[in-house]
Amino acid sequence: MGVAVSIQQLVKSFGSLRALDGVSLDIAEGEFFGLLGPNGAGKTTLISCLAGLVRPDQGQLSVLGCDVLADYREARRRLGVVPQELVFDPFFSVRETLRIQSGYFGIRNNEAWIDEILENLDLTAKANVNMRRLSGGMKRRVLVAQALVHKPPVIVLDEPTAGVDVELRQGLWHFV
Ligand SMILES: Nc1ncnc2c1ncn2[C@@H]1O[C@H](COP(=O)(O)OP(=O)(O)OP(=O)(O)O)[C@@H](O)[C@H]1O
Ligand SMILES: [Mg+2]
Repeated sequence: MGVAVSIQQLVKSFGSLRALDGVSLDIAEGEFFGLLGPNGAGKTTLISCLAGLVRPDQGQLSVLGCDVLADYREARRRLGVVPQELVFDPFFSVRETLRIQSGYFGIRNNEAWIDEILENLDLTAKANVNMRRLSGGMKRRVLVAQALVHKPPVIVLDEPTAGVDVELRQGLWHFV
């Protein structure tokens, strides 16, 4: 099997703080990999580097053989990221949010897949509800849905079950 995620000698400092100090790891295709560490260990920083949101000081990263720095667009296409923080646009409904996210990846007419995602995340009844009116756990479900709109072969979840009830937690693992 090929390598899904490859990280070599990754270094990132914020001022005098060395958040990542030469991290290397390989994750194989088909593998479930858990990155554990205390608050402030650098997990989100590592994920942000992988998603091209934080520029590392040194090191190499690739997603399915695609270099994150040299070939950002293609690497990003291969990756779905569920962020740790609840970020959402208060002007749109759940379905609109997912359509817009699809558009970021140049995908039109994504309705069948969006319906399937909504169904699996138990969001169908909320499809036309404005994001502001969702509970915290439901907003988190939408973040998971957003990460999946472009059918990424590699998915990274940064604390995805924070604030999510037991039922969805299990449903989520099953769906993933
Ligand atoms: N943009 C930034 N500017 C300055 N320091 C930062 C920045 N982002 C993260 N840090 C620092 O880098 C370190 C690692 O933070 P990070 O968010 O990666 O940790 P984490 O392992 O995800 O923690 P948690 O479990 O709390 O989510 C922390 O000391 C944090 O304060
Ligand atoms: Mg974090």
